[in-house]
Amino acid sequence: MKIAHILLKNTFNIPKQVDRFSKFSPSPLSMKQFIDFGSANACEKTSFMFLRQELPVRLANIMKEIDFLPDKLISTPSVQLLHSWYAQSLMEIVDFLEKDPDDKKITCIVRFTETLINVRNRHNNVVPTMAQGVVEYKETFGVDPVTNQNVQYFLDRFYTSRISTRMLINQHTLIFSGSTNPVHPKHIGSIDPNCDAVEVVRDAYESSKMLCDQYYLTSPEVEIKQVNSVEPNEPINIVYVPSHLYHMLFELFKNAMRATVETHENSTHLPPIKVRVSLGSEDLTIRMSDRGGGVPLRKIERLFSYMYSTAPSPVNDNARNAPLAGFGYGLPISRLYAKYFQGDLQLYSMEGYGTSAVIYLKALSTESVERLPVFNRSALRHYQTSTEADDWCIPSSEPKKLGKYDYNMQEERTEGKLN
Ligand SMILES: Nc1ncnc2c1ncn2[C@@H]1O[C@H](COP(=O)(O)OP(=O)(O)O)[C@@H](O)[C@H]1O
Ligand SMILES: [Mg+2]
Repeated sequence: MKIAHILLKNTFNIPKQVDRFSKFSPSPLSMKQFIDFGSANACEKTSFMFLRQELPVRLANIMKEIDFLPDKLISTPSVQLLHSWYAQSLMEIVDFLEKDPDDKKITCIVRFTETLINVRNRHNNVVPTMAQGVVEYKETFGVDPVTNQNVQYFLDRFYTSRISTRMLINQHTLIFSGSTNPVHPKHIGSIDPNCDAVEVVRDAYESSKMLCDQYYLTSPEVEIKQVNSVEPNEPINIVYVPSHLYHMLFELFKNAMRATVETHENSTHLPPIKVRVSLGSEDLTIRMSDRGGGVPLRKIERLFSYMYSTAPSPVNDNARNAPLAGFGYGLPISRLYAKYFQGDLQLYSMEGYGTSAVIYLKALSTESVERLPVFNRSALRHYQTSTEADDWCIPSSEPKKLGKYDYNMQEERTEGKLN
């Protein structure tokens, strides 16, 4: 009876709590703050006090935006399920706002950590579930440019928000778990204060090579070069989350390998993938170049689109048997990881030859600051773009008769335009 009562109370409270917390802007943290917070000054109580407010703010801000998706997408079972996860997690965390962290009967802070772990697990399948919703929508209603633009805008923000909440939860649970990471004792939570970029490139190459060998029975070599212009001849180190960098590089290697092998199917030699890592005063840049035949410029933007991805059924995606291509989310999600700490990921392609993918990261930990979505009036405006006519001429498919100037036709066009 009591449980039912609590559940009922919570259900009615959800929109109120979403409104309440979405009024606050999220507080982005810098890599330096993450580090400071996790080392000498590590204090579980401070972290608890910060997260019990900050997590609801981040969740509520993005929940507000779900409401602006097309109705028919919101009503898919997948998006409904997602929404229920967010609502439940929000309410579970908000519950701690009334708790006293100094409560002598222990548990409050301990229970908070348990709750965070539950929240993280509950949200494990957010990406494939959302992708499933998009596929269902697309199969029934097709894709139009306005919906594509809205969904792209939303998903970039939604997945960034998820990366950020996972980052906060991971830091708290790892730092205050009471034990250091046996493999990487110097890591602070998920951050490596001396992340060796070339080492991560090698790791990602090896994993991708294994998949490629399994699938195609061959794989291209890699050539890695590095230039450290800040401390010449020293390894290139950066304060970063190695798992994020690994994720991006692994996706890029899989794409480069697949393109290389498929383009050179009939030749005995595979051109190597060339990677260059360079450190300047502002940027750490990693460029990966393949000779996999490239992509025409017209298609580049679509490679980052969630709606235009070729996804068959992501839900059955099995990591162990994953072939080199997934459901088309490799590039867009990797770009979000890069942007999350103010970097970027761009593709430059020469159709007929090959592609260079470039990852830009901030070299300084003071500049690696979380890039977070906030729900405000400008965000709202993005969802309200209506179908307007293109403001660039659409080339006609019929060749124009340019030989003789038709004065009357020109008149007509001008008049038509002024009307
Ligand atoms: N280096 C590359 N060379 C040629 N095509 C590429 C390259 N990288 C990506 N692509 C194209 O972009 C598509 C999307 O890539 P991605 O987002 O990683 O999704 P997926 O690999 O799951 O299809 C690929 O299917 C491929 O057609
Ligand atoms: Mg891929």
